Amino acid sequence: MMNTLKASGVGASINRVEGRLKVRGMAKYATEFPVENKAFAQGINSTIAKGEIIAIDSSEAEGLDGVLAVITYKNAEKLNHLEEEMPLLATTTIAPVLQSAKVNYYGEYVGVVVAETFEQAQYAARLVKFEYKEDPDPTIRFDESKSKAYKPKGNSDYLRGDMEAGLAEADETLDATYITPIEHHHPMELHAIIASWENGKVTAYSSQQMVNESTIAIADTFQIPKKDVRVITPFVGGGFGSKLNTERHVILAIMASKLLGRPVQMTVTRQQMFTNTGMRQQNEQRMQLGAKMDGSLTALSHDTLSHTSTYQEYQEPCGMISKMLYQVPNNQITYRLIPMNFQTPFAMRAPGEATGSFALESAMDEMAWKLKMDPVDFRIKNDTQIDLGADKPFSSRLLIECLRIGADKFGWENRSMQPRSKQEGNWLIGYGVSAASRNSPYQESSSKVILELENEKVYATVQMDATDIGTGSYTIIAQTASEYLGVPVAQVTVELGDSRFPITPGSGGSWGAASYCNGARAACQNAIDTLKQNKNIGKDQDIPVAELLKQNKLKKYEAEGSAAPSEAFKKHSVFSFGANFSEVWVDKHTGMYRIKRMVNVASAGNILNPKTAYGQIIGGLTMGVGMVLSEQTRVEPNFGNFITRSLADYHVPVNLDMANIEVIFLPEEDKIANEMGVKGIGELGITSVAASVANAIFNATGKRMRHLPITPEKLIEAQVEPGVVA
Ligand code: MOS
Repeated sequence: MMNTLKASGVGASINRVEGRLKVRGMAKYATEFPVENKAFAQGINSTIAKGEIIAIDSSEAEGLDGVLAVITYKNAEKLNHLEEEMPLLATTTIAPVLQSAKVNYYGEYVGVVVAETFEQAQYAARLVKFEYKEDPDPTIRFDESKSKAYKPKGNSDYLRGDMEAGLAEADETLDATYITPIEHHHPMELHAIIASWENGKVTAYSSQQMVNESTIAIADTFQIPKKDVRVITPFVGGGFGSKLNTERHVILAIMASKLLGRPVQMTVTRQQMFTNTGMRQQNEQRMQLGAKMDGSLTALSHDTLSHTSTYQEYQEPCGMISKMLYQVPNNQITYRLIPMNFQTPFAMRAPGEATGSFALESAMDEMAWKLKMDPVDFRIKNDTQIDLGADKPFSSRLLIECLRIGADKFGWENRSMQPRSKQEGNWLIGYGVSAASRNSPYQESSSKVILELENEKVYATVQMDATDIGTGSYTIIAQTASEYLGVPVAQVTVELGDSRFPITPGSGGSWGAASYCNGARAACQNAIDTLKQNKNIGKDQDIPVAELLKQNKLKKYEAEGSAAPSEAFKKHSVFSFGANFSEVWVDKHTGMYRIKRMVNVASAGNILNPKTAYGQIIGGLTMGVGMVLSEQTRVEPNFGNFITRSLADYHVPVNLDMANIEVIFLPEEDKIANEMGVKGIGELGITSVAASVANAIFNATGKRMRHLPITPEKLIEAQVEPGVVA
């Protein structure tokens, strides 16, 4: 490593390098690029849940000033389609749209209007009349449709040992079902695109989390070479999974541009983001646990019932966490899906763990109470350093340390095992705990570094197709270049979000930081190694990069590099771990409650920048608070549309809902994870909150809340558990 710059290298708590651009409004989001002569598109949504279009009257809309085109299945170009029934929805999946008269769900795109102005397009969209032949029996009620559930092809069921034998040898058993509702991710920046089709080539300024995957999906949908698709997305105003894949508005805008021969801008409205850009589906998770009186688990099963669409398959892997988190010899995971007349659900922050941990970590708390064991001790008793589900050791696992240190910082010793025993006036006070874990799936990542010598100073530019979805990618990549080149961050420029740059896996699944930074490291190290080799300078000799360029008689030098998972990585399970402790005050008369404080401990390897990492955990905790307090998308039971259609009725938490939060990062060196020892942190925060709060509510009230969100009315109606002194 070159002379480390403590002030700005890896581990320094520096401010965001793009912060000034953002506060001055100079960071350009998708629709802020100055593209000339653009037209505006507005999508039209179906008003039935299932059936087909039998007539369309677009004459009134077409007669309006400024309207350039009305596109429906009748005049839309034919796109690629998959022959396979119920193909899996993935990040590169094609997104054909307006290809038939069939309607699969309420809110599906049935047309698009293109006009000279945004207002004209919006107005004209309302004037296009559709007549439908409605199927009288759409599948829109989850509870009444369970008999339609099938075993998905995408996520195989899993078994180790023998569940029945495990339950038979247990001293205590638990059989409980946990329900989580449909949820929507609502990034501040709406999904939006400016698309240009020119001579068979596509340029898309589109808000996306994964640039390379998006070029693949666009190219495959239009059946053109991938090299003819350019996706540009230097700033993304949040994604949370909703921008991982290429949604149909992207295809609509490109299709419209191709038809009109001019650029087309399309913004998905906040209301349309409930029906056209992904969601988390409702899950019903049945947990069965068996344990001995000494606290050792003998059996654990996790059966998930969810829904997918009627045209694609997606299964949130809720049971994944129950395969790997604890030492249990008998373990069974199953998945079933109901095909429903809603859009295909897809990844929403920590898909699998966010919901799965609510079920598992609530069930662990219920079992600890049955055993009259402290829930921290119960988890520690069942710790494992081997991932039994994958049959591999963990590269590093500090879950016990997270639990112990968190308990200490939180003042867990002041918790009373007996629910309802801590009161202040009308308030019932409870403490809760949950473990957290999230896979850290590091992936191959490439980058380019350009070094320029000017007035004795070296300026570096790092390029890759990575995205910064508000998480701090620019900053940590700049810090990495600073560290490995030995130049201050102020002399480093990072350029992201363009498919012309070297390929990375994009931002998602908590793999961004580790992948991007190791890719940047590799390019910087290659640059320096080659400059040394050229002059027969030993690899270990510490020479400033400015001096190296001078000795090479170079004013400018470029190098590329890429990093990929090692053999050791593949032989291990690489996860981040954590623990969440919360204190909740419940008003015993109204059921209103407040989360007073939270202590969150995380072990996520090498923390590149404590300030941005802290922001990631806080963001995850906030979304977790949303899960437990208020977030739910409601389905209108007769027509199948979502009746929560704005942020006025889909409630996300605000500052006043949040607790006093302390975040602690444990020092952890994990060189198996990757050379820089970086692990994922974006999704770890959300994976513990719902259970931690629900468990605190049990400790406060003696009521077991198994159905999210935990609203005051549910809490008031719930009965105190048998065995709790009311
Ligand atoms: Mo995440 S749900 O992979 O953006």
